[in-house]
Formats: sequence, structure tokens, C-alpha cells
Amino acid sequence: MSTSPVSIAIIGAGGVGKCFLSQLQALAARRPNPKLSLVYISTSKKALFKSDYSAIPIDSAVQELSAASTAPLALPKVIEYLAAAPSKVVLVDNTSSQDVADSYPAFLRSGISIVTPNKKAFSGSYQLWQDIFNAASTSGAKVYHESSVGAGLPVISTLKDLVDTGDEVTKIEGVFSGTMSFLFNSFAPLEGSGGKWSAEVKKAKELGYTEPDPRDDLNGLDVARKLTILARLAGLPVESPTSFPVQSLIPQALESVASGDEFLQRLPEFDSEMESVKTTAEKEGKVVRFVGSIDVATKSVKVGLEKFDRSHPIAALKGSDNIISFYTKRYGSNPLIVQGAGAGGDVTAMGVTSDLLKVLSQI
Ligand SMILES: NC(=O)c1ccc[n+]([C@@H]2O[C@H](COP(=O)([O-])OP(=O)(O)OC[C@H]3O[C@@H](n4cnc5c(N)ncnc54)[C@H](OP(=O)(O)O)[C@@H]3O)[C@@H](O)[C@H]2O)c1
Repeated sequence: MSTSPVSIAIIGAGGVGKCFLSQLQALAARRPNPKLSLVYISTSKKALFKSDYSAIPIDSAVQELSAASTAPLALPKVIEYLAAAPSKVVLVDNTSSQDVADSYPAFLRSGISIVTPNKKAFSGSYQLWQDIFNAASTSGAKVYHESSVGAGLPVISTLKDLVDTGDEVTKIEGVFSGTMSFLFNSFAPLEGSGGKWSAEVKKAKELGYTEPDPRDDLNGLDVARKLTILARLAGLPVESPTSFPVQSLIPQALESVASGDEFLQRLPEFDSEMESVKTTAEKEGKVVRFVGSIDVATKSVKVGLEKFDRSHPIAALKGSDNIISFYTKRYGSNPLIVQGAGAGGDVTAMGVTSDLLKVLSQI
């Protein structure tokens, strides 16, 4: 590992950003080499940085940022500022911003490495994906995004290792959304019964498992983005998260209602549709789950409801856990399975911190 100091720039200090800062502070204390120096931190409204690149104290960065009155630099200016830093720089993007994602090729071309849980860059257009990895290979800057799928679970690193060691990945299948996992584990539990669909959605929202408007989970796009990333890593040039079949669980009549609250109010009108999906599965001795799958040989990617035997690992999932099964030539008929919490600030930040350690060992 290099012993020259490394500058860290952080964009985004919300749930994941704050957890990352506390892990960074512990890392800097635990491993004094290379010296990690925080030189830039911003939210969408404020920023902290010094023209002489002097270090911002990591332990008080959040408080200082909230008391600050400096507006963030525009992204091209952030790149200019970081490119002129006296040491190597790693950008930590803890936002879900498309604008920040669109700037990755420019950061990388300037020699700035990137670690991020933000899915947008890797699940947007295929052109952006190519620009990012071309820029990285030309400049030598590194880019890692473990937490963009399954939060801190080793999903992307596992898939890369399978591919890089010459295994043949034939199929990837799993539950990729904590929200969908929680909803179906309560709506159609293995033990039978479960509440009405609309009541489960309402409960999930009250417990903080859904986005403020639950339609942002139920439209399947978040899962489609994760599948896009994995399919590309498995070698399929998927054009975008809307270029393959994605089943939305939003009844058509409620797609355009004005608010999330109105959506929840009217959802009971459609309970019978989901109830019949559940009972059809039950009659076959199965349970229904919302899954994503990639069939590498047939180059098909899809997201939606599937029925599973009650003995299947996907059927037995608990709480809001994710599960991802890799079927490969080496693993034969028993897939390699990664399972556990797929959301939460600390576990997501863990994936970002471990990506940072990889970058530090390579630059
Ligand atoms: N939370 C999880 O469990 C989880 C799991 C896996 C992946 N992720 C991913 O992790 C990322 C962060 O999630 P989060 O839960 O921490 O979100 P969050 O709490 O909403 O925080 C987002 C942060 O990014 C800032 N931000 C947004 N757009 C920005 C921009 N254009 N420029 C500068 N700052 C900007 C926000 O600043 P303002 O407050 O000023 O808007 C805020 O500080 C997302 O990409 C998310 O998908 C999260």
C-alpha cells in the first residue's frame, strides 16, 4: 500500500454519507498509512474545502458542514480543484445524483478514483458505462461500486471474481430489494396467511421500508437498475434498465394519481388482483416473490413476480434481506448464494469503505 498521503473528497452526507464518515475516521485512526486527508465535502446546498487543501477534521465534518455558508462548487470546478491537489485523490459519491454520475468519466480522466454506492452511473446508458471504464483504463484511476447492488453484501466482487477466474456464469437470480423482500415475506409468508396487499404496503411505508411514495419501489425500476449492473458485469451489453421486461406492481389506474398518499388510499381497490396471485401459487404449494433474473446463455434479463417451491432459498428469506444466487459451471446445480441485509447506512457504508481500501492498495 502506498505511503504517500491520499486526499478524500466526499459528495453527499446523508444516511450513508454520515456512516461512511464515521468508518473513515476509524480507518484513519486504525491505519495511519497512507495518511487520509479529507479535502472536500458537500451536500447539494453546502460545501467545505480550503484553497490550500488543508485537511477538514473528519470527526466534526458533519457539524461544520451544517454550520457552513459556502455553496458547493459546480462539478467541473470540483474536478479542477481535485485534479490540482498535491496528492492522489479518491472521490466518494454518496448521492443518488445522475449529474454526479454523468461526471465520472471526467473525474476519472483527471486521475481521480471513485468509490460509490450510487447506481446511476452503472445502470444508465451503456454509453456512460463504456465511457467510465474506458476513462479508468486510460488514466489508471480506479472505480468501485460494490454497494450499488445488495448494499455491503459481496455481490459485485463475487461476480467479478467468478468472471475473472474463468468460471462460466450461466444464471443469476435473486431478491434485490429490501422493500420487496419485506413486502412479500409479510404478504405471502412460508407459514401461510399474511395480510392484505394494500395493508402490507401501508405497514412497510410506516416502518420506513419504502420510499416516501411507495410507487418508487413498486415500479420495479430499482431492481431493474441492479440487474442492469450485474448483467453488464456478466458480459451482456444491456442498453438500459428499461430495455428488458420489468413488471410494475402499480395498478395502471393508479399510475398517475397525484400523490403517494392518494395511491395508498386507493390501493385496497386492487387487493383482489394480488390475492389471486398469492392463492394461485398456494394451490401449487408455492409462494410468490418479486425477483430479478439474468439468463446469460439466452441473454435474457427480467424482473417481476415468480412462484417458488416452499423449500427454495428465495422462499425462505426473512425480514428485508436480499438473496443473490450465482449459477455457474464450477458450482454446478448448487448455486453460490450471498444473503443478508441489503440496505441500511452502516452496511452500505461498509461496502464503500472496503472499496476505498481496494483503491488505496492499487494507487
Ligand atoms: N440507504 C441505504 O440503505 C442504501 C443502500 C444501498 C445503496 N444506497 C445508495 O447510497 C446513496 C446514498 O443514499 P442515502 O440513503 O445516504 O441518501 P440520502 O440520505 O438521501 O443522502 C443523499 C446525500 O446526497 C446529497 N446530494 C444529493 N444530490 C447531490 C448533488 N447533486 N450534489 C451534492 N450532494 C448531493 C444530499 O444532500 P441534500 O441533503 O442537500 O439534498 C445528501 O447529503 C444512494 O445512491 C443510494 O441509492 C443506499
